[in-house]
Amino acid sequence: MFERELMLTHRQEEHDRLHHEFLTSTDGATRKRLIQEHDAIVGPDHWSYMCYARTHSPLPSPYFGSQGRYIEPLLKLLVHRHPDMHAISDATSGSNAPMYLAKRMGLRVRTNDWCHMSYFVSRAVVVANHEPPNMVSIDPERVVPVPGFVKSLELFPYDVATYIDGVATLALAHDDPLTLAALAGTLVSGYTYRGMCYDKNWCREATLVVFHNRLLKRRGLLQAAILRDQPEGEAFNLDAEDFVSLPGEHDTLYMDFAWPWTTGAPVDTYDFFSRDISSVLLQKPLEKHQFTTKEDIVPKILAIWKKALGHYNRLILSTQSTNYPPGDQLEEVLLSEFGPRCKYHTFYDVVSSVNSKPFRELVYVVER
Ligand SMILES: C[S@@+](CC[C@H](N)C(=O)[O-])C[C@H]1O[C@@H](n2cnc3c(N)ncnc32)[C@H](O)[C@@H]1O
Repeated sequence: MFERELMLTHRQEEHDRLHHEFLTSTDGATRKRLIQEHDAIVGPDHWSYMCYARTHSPLPSPYFGSQGRYIEPLLKLLVHRHPDMHAISDATSGSNAPMYLAKRMGLRVRTNDWCHMSYFVSRAVVVANHEPPNMVSIDPERVVPVPGFVKSLELFPYDVATYIDGVATLALAHDDPLTLAALAGTLVSGYTYRGMCYDKNWCREATLVVFHNRLLKRRGLLQAAILRDQPEGEAFNLDAEDFVSLPGEHDTLYMDFAWPWTTGAPVDTYDFFSRDISSVLLQKPLEKHQFTTKEDIVPKILAIWKKALGHYNRLILSTQSTNYPPGDQLEEVLLSEFGPRCKYHTFYDVVSSVNSKPFRELVYVVER
């Protein structure tokens, strides 16, 4: 049986009351006051947390999930419950916000994602404690345009597209993940994302100067995020199932999967980052990934976790209430599969940074 990581009843009631008030208010000042009130009564580090104000990722990476908003209280909860915890691996690291914060808390980190952009960010910021050795100085004079794949990003004018190709060529030749991460982030933040657009017009209007400045700024922010004097981490670019099967004994595995929506529609938006933009940056066509559907999500999660149990002491799975399967069904599956190993679960109330809708993030913990 999963133990509920319980809030004291009166705190639960207070949380629910303030949560409801928060959701019905549209005024920023009132929301701010409610958060302060919540923190004063329920406690900012309490197991459940209103994360409304904390909607930014600690890294200048584009949106890849919502973890940036509540990973801090979650990690604090884990360290509090498991004082022996000294390392954490993320099988689907996305923006890298979770492992970046873990590293800041002094935990040894390992990251993985099959998406290249995530991998570049990991290598540049989460794994390295120093500037990558072959740093490219992005001097437009040094960038020799190599018109190539980038032309598939038709939104960009020709001079910007050829410049992107040139920077990617230079960064690849110098094995410079910092520049690749900045380039990917700049492309993602300006390019359409399945109908949504981070900045609708700037791709079409981008001039070389605007693009160059945005790239330098993002690269500077990433560079500033590099943590010095922390243990070296490791980064992988594998399917999660292969990552958790790597030999060795590890402490804790964290996983926030690309779940299908409640409707069962697969969340294949990450394919855009993984394939279209990465194929431009790596200058080779990449295969389309197989994304999980309503039918295969549970078998896939169970396959990953069964393999992970051979190597990890503790498994943590995070999903949101807008995902499929719903929390109660998922809990039943985990209980029937892992029985007494199911230890506890907790939740975080969050507001989506994409459409401002509230949802609940559910977190399950299973031990070996
Ligand atoms: C919900 S996002 C993770 C968000 C991340 N926790 C964050 O805070 O940014 C899911 C991630 O899983 C990755 N992913 C999906 N299926 C995968 C697989 N089979 N193997 C490795 N990575 C996968 C996607 O590329 C995406 O980055």
